[in-house]
Amino acid sequence: AVEHTLSIIKPDAVAKNVIGEIYARFEKAGLRIVAAKMQHLSREQAEGFYAEHKERPFFKDLVDFMTSGPVMVQVLAGEDAIARNRELMGATDPQKAAAGSIRADFASSIDANAVHGSDSATSAEREVAYFFSDDEICPRD
Ligand code: CMP
Repeated sequence: AVEHTLSIIKPDAVAKNVIGEIYARFEKAGLRIVAAKMQHLSREQAEGFYAEHKERPFFKDLVDFMTSGPVMVQVLAGEDAIARNRELMGATDPQKAAAGSIRADFASSIDANAVHGSDSATSAEREVAYFFSDDEICPRD
């Protein structure tokens, strides 16, 4: 089915100036960018986005990192977009990410891991709505 998923290019990858290289991977895999914005997240925004991880030991480091510089936030659309994006990203820990994946090629640590992508249909729905209103999403075929 055609799905929407939320993607974030994290501060490390924005700082490395590889937004375009990452966008090219989405597009070559058949995913369409249907909404996008660059934003420097506030602590409140980052904490709210990652609320499910609030009790995890890495939560403060995660919020510190995600607010350390601008991020690029986009909605990707396409057939099986959620799983397809996760395959393109590779494993959360770049040391374990498959060769040729975004994290293998651009990430340096589990915190500075270049990209975020929704992990399920339920989280995709919540995460897309967290950043974008319906009228900011441009339907395309
Ligand atoms: P992300 O997909 O953005 O979701 C939560 C983030 O927490 C994850 O990517 C990692 O960057 C970060 N993180 C740091 N330590 C861990 C860990 N031990 N397990 C999972 N995620 C972690």
